[in-house]
Amino acid sequence: MTPPSAADFQRAVELLRAGELVAIPTETVYGLGGDAANPAAVARIFAAKGRPADHPLIVHLAGHDAVEHWAEGVPEIAWELMETFWPGPLTLILKKQGWVPDAVTGGQDTVGLRVPGHPVALELLRRFATAAGPRAGIAAPSANRFGRISPTTAAHVAEELGERVPLILDGGPCRVGIESTIVDCSRDQPVVLRPGHISPLHLEAVLGRRPAIETATGAPRVSGSLAAHYAPQTPMHLVAGDRLPDFLATRRQRGGRCGVLSPNPPPPAGMRHDWRQLPADPVGYAHDLYGALRAMDHAGVALIVVETPPADPAWAAIADRLRRAVAGAGRE
Ligand code: TXA
Ligand code: MG
Repeated sequence: MTPPSAADFQRAVELLRAGELVAIPTETVYGLGGDAANPAAVARIFAAKGRPADHPLIVHLAGHDAVEHWAEGVPEIAWELMETFWPGPLTLILKKQGWVPDAVTGGQDTVGLRVPGHPVALELLRRFATAAGPRAGIAAPSANRFGRISPTTAAHVAEELGERVPLILDGGPCRVGIESTIVDCSRDQPVVLRPGHISPLHLEAVLGRRPAIETATGAPRVSGSLAAHYAPQTPMHLVAGDRLPDFLATRRQRGGRCGVLSPNPPPPAGMRHDWRQLPADPVGYAHDLYGALRAMDHAGVALIVVETPPADPAWAAIADRLRRAVAGAGRE
């Protein structure tokens, strides 16, 4: 990986100012970025992703100072969350300022804001703000085609979007590997709309109590909440660890080759399936998950079999993404 040069950053700023798109690394996943204050640029994002235009986007900012250009009536608790977790994998939903384009918010009266914790993203955001002024923000959904697995390397972005994006800034593999935690601070009490690396336990330490989690499926409010999301094209099953050997034996008799993702090593002999062992801790597992699903999707297996993750809150974000991947995966 060659880190972006000064000339790359300059080109990225020029593209953004011209309403064009730039793929940017963040600590969670790669984003497909455009000038958030420019509705034509935002329309390009939806077109490149093949995403319905009523889905709101997250606006990425260089720092806290920019928040009140975008949001109004920011509650004290939101400032505390920013203090603790920004730059980092946390998105806050706040009441929007009147000028914020409907194109970004999907016509809602709220806006999603985040200061990402990746040096390349931060450098680009700072340079863009210097060039475009204090309202500068980069709207960026994950840089995948709609409904597919989010990219965690620059190569994944090229595979997903190819010619649709004129510049991909390479920031190496994403440190976190799954999308940011989303907390809605526009209501009376903060509510988690999407679990992520920052867990309810982390949030509790700041909020003083465990936040409610509301990951409704099917509602357009959070597009990641559509059941069919983050999905490979190969059919996929979640199977409990104790049922895995029987399940695979039955599949073998039927002749189909499975790709297995599990935190455990493969059984000793006679395994005719592709077995990929993932880290046994949720942080390491999240880091590797999308790359592993993508690799399995390319491996030509008939079925991707994922061992059901532990029912522990520390695994909530992973369980959430796996459920959605199963719902959106190809059919057998
Ligand atoms: O980690 C991330 O959040 C990545 C990186 C690139 O920052 N971005 C990302 O974007 O995952 P996307 O568009 O794939 O998911 C953003 C989620 C969507 O589910 C969207 O509905 C929700 O944020 N969202 C954005 N603005 C919102 C709003 N005003 N109210 C409710 N949900 C909102
Ligand atoms: Mg996405």
